[in-house]
Amino acid sequence: MGAERYRPPLFSVAPMMEWTDKHYRTVARIISKHAWLYTEMLAAETIVYQQGNLDRFLAFPSEQHPIVLQIGGNNLDNIAKATQLANAYGFDEINLNCGCPSAKVAGHGCFGARLMLDPKFVSEAMSVIAANTDVPVSVKCRIGVDDHDSYNELCDFIYKVSSLSPTKHFIIHSRKALLNGISPADNRRIPPLKYEYYYALLRDFPDLRFTINGGIDCVDEVNAALREGAHGVMVGRAAYNNLWNTLAHVDSAVYGEPSSGLTRRQVLEQYQVYGDAVLGTYGNNRPNMRELIRPLSGFFYSEPGNSLWKRKADAAFLNKNIKTVKSFFEETLAVIPDAVLDSPVAELPSGRIDLFANVRGLLPPPYETRTEEVVVNAQS
Ligand SMILES: Cc1cc2nc3c(=O)[nH]c(=O)nc-3n(C[C@H](O)[C@H](O)[C@H](O)COP(=O)(O)O)c2cc1C
Repeated sequence: MGAERYRPPLFSVAPMMEWTDKHYRTVARIISKHAWLYTEMLAAETIVYQQGNLDRFLAFPSEQHPIVLQIGGNNLDNIAKATQLANAYGFDEINLNCGCPSAKVAGHGCFGARLMLDPKFVSEAMSVIAANTDVPVSVKCRIGVDDHDSYNELCDFIYKVSSLSPTKHFIIHSRKALLNGISPADNRRIPPLKYEYYYALLRDFPDLRFTINGGIDCVDEVNAALREGAHGVMVGRAAYNNLWNTLAHVDSAVYGEPSSGLTRRQVLEQYQVYGDAVLGTYGNNRPNMRELIRPLSGFFYSEPGNSLWKRKADAAFLNKNIKTVKSFFEETLAVIPDAVLDSPVAELPSGRIDLFANVRGLLPPPYETRTEEVVVNAQS
């Protein structure tokens, strides 16, 4: 069920905690009909312990398909139960987080990126996930962890997980994770990107599907990665910080389908209907105005009026008379020029032409499967 109804995941928006929430995904889906959307990572424990409150964490409007649930965890029973509970919500794929370096996550025993050091556990977790869902499963990982950063070690991880579980799709954040306590933000900046590892995986595991992630900043660069042979491209920060200029090009420039043709004003009109329908409906005034407006922080990126709009927004959050998203927009949008609000998306911005230029020349030597060693280790 599910996935085959949609265009393939040539473009997906990365899972991002506190960013790719239901509200962000609503705006994103108004702008692009075909982008695959990932949820924020949800801990298996949260799903299990919040059984009475699951809609709040897992329900989504049907327009948000195709949508992938990312879960995190280190306990097979909880991962199994969480998947079983989530399965009823009809996600199109279930993904396991093996890439998050956050101390809060990685420090909790074996969780996030640290799982890359235990491929046997990951294969068990993926088998358990697959046994409790009827949709495909995938892993999102780094290219290594700390000193375990050779191409061969990455291949051992992919080989073990794919041969010992039904995992056929891997999303590769193409830099290693450092678990030495640097911040998650630095962990997305300091370890260098090695796209050549990603492209070598395509060569060495022709039966698997790989999505490239990390440092890809616009749709032109997405297309460059696809031209180089990538099966799919995942974009994180650019899809949030530069929401409109990134997502408004996806349907036409990546999928070759007509774009929605909406202007920014029309996107906001649709979002306002959603916002006013959900404002305060979770109880305790949640979601509040700030939570509903936050996904728009990159909507006017680099446009005239952007900074002023943010200042106006800050003042409007404190104004008790502004009780609806409609009135919030009426109060704040006047500072954005009509030409910005009413123009169709500008031409496709050009990406860095040399991003993948030399990648074929840098490929590491082919992986030689050390089958016996791998199987013995995996069983030990
Ligand atoms: C605010 C923020 C939160 C993130 N949360 C998650 C997460 O929950 N799960 C995950 O696998 N990656 C998470 N990431 C990493 C992104 O999914 C992505 O791998 C990373 O940002 C690199 O892609 P980019 O260079 O296109 O941003 C997060 C990134 C950011 C900026």
